[in-house]
Amino acid sequence: MRSPIPDYLAEALQSVESDTTGATADYIPELADADPDLLAAAFCTEDGRLYSQGDVDVAFSIQSISKPFVYALALADRGFDEVLGKISVEPSGDAFNDMSLEEGTGRPRNPMINAGAIATHTLAGRRGADPKDRIERIIDGLSAFAGRPLDVDEAVYESEIATAYRNRALANMLRANGIIDEDPLIAVSGYTRQCSVRVTVEDLALMAATLANRGVNPRTGAPVVPAPAVRQTLSVMATCGMYDGAGDWMTRVGIPAKSGVSGGLIGALPGQAGLATFSPRLDDHGNSVRGVDLFQRFTSDMGMHLM
Ligand code: DON
Repeated sequence: MRSPIPDYLAEALQSVESDTTGATADYIPELADADPDLLAAAFCTEDGRLYSQGDVDVAFSIQSISKPFVYALALADRGFDEVLGKISVEPSGDAFNDMSLEEGTGRPRNPMINAGAIATHTLAGRRGADPKDRIERIIDGLSAFAGRPLDVDEAVYESEIATAYRNRALANMLRANGIIDEDPLIAVSGYTRQCSVRVTVEDLALMAATLANRGVNPRTGAPVVPAPAVRQTLSVMATCGMYDGAGDWMTRVGIPAKSGVSGGLIGALPGQAGLATFSPRLDDHGNSVRGVDLFQRFTSDMGMHLM
């Protein structure tokens, strides 16, 4: 029997299509110019069945959605003690680019805000690895989550790095507080490349499904990260993944999630599925407007809200 999921996804996309509220991210020129009407959704079950509708072939930069995956890689590569010693896990309730660190320890408040993500970036891969090997490890790791080789959108990288003053300030702050011990500009460059990795909505659904499947890619069968790293990552996504919109998200949608400023959004329900949407217009928190609506509809219709 044919699955009803594709029709369901098509109908869901249609229900949000006319909503043109929000705006594309304007602080990265290449993202500001994205077609704001693009719209896609994908759903991947924990046993690897993948369904998608809409603009599924359009590739876009992963942006902040890379953060939970690189956090999982850092936990796998360096262990919990080292990573937690550098980055806290408390929801900040602040914007993604907030400039403050935890009082007393000087750690970034969590790995989902930029300060924490830049620090996380430096903890992926082997200790002392050269920055080129480290970004390779990260791209290979993201590719393993997606089940296919991913690459960097150089135009997005160039566009963001040219204006990354705030992230440079954050990296300098991390260096001054002993959270990173390398040249801050190298950390920002690597982090920006990580954010510029190109994905489709199907890649994102499969990446989320790999988290839902305890770190094993459900289509390739490859073990990507160990289960304890996944549990830690999903917990941080649940509390911090939607920044200053996290409480609203958890009550309305109710699953661990992560958004990105190019308009992607993922959610993972452990033991069940990974979901992803793509729609570039963002709300004031930097979360996709139509993506948030779609997720609310998905988790309500499919009984996925955790509570
Ligand atoms: O660091 C930045 O500002 C971007 N590369 C990523 C920000 C982002 O995606 C925030 N998420 N909504």
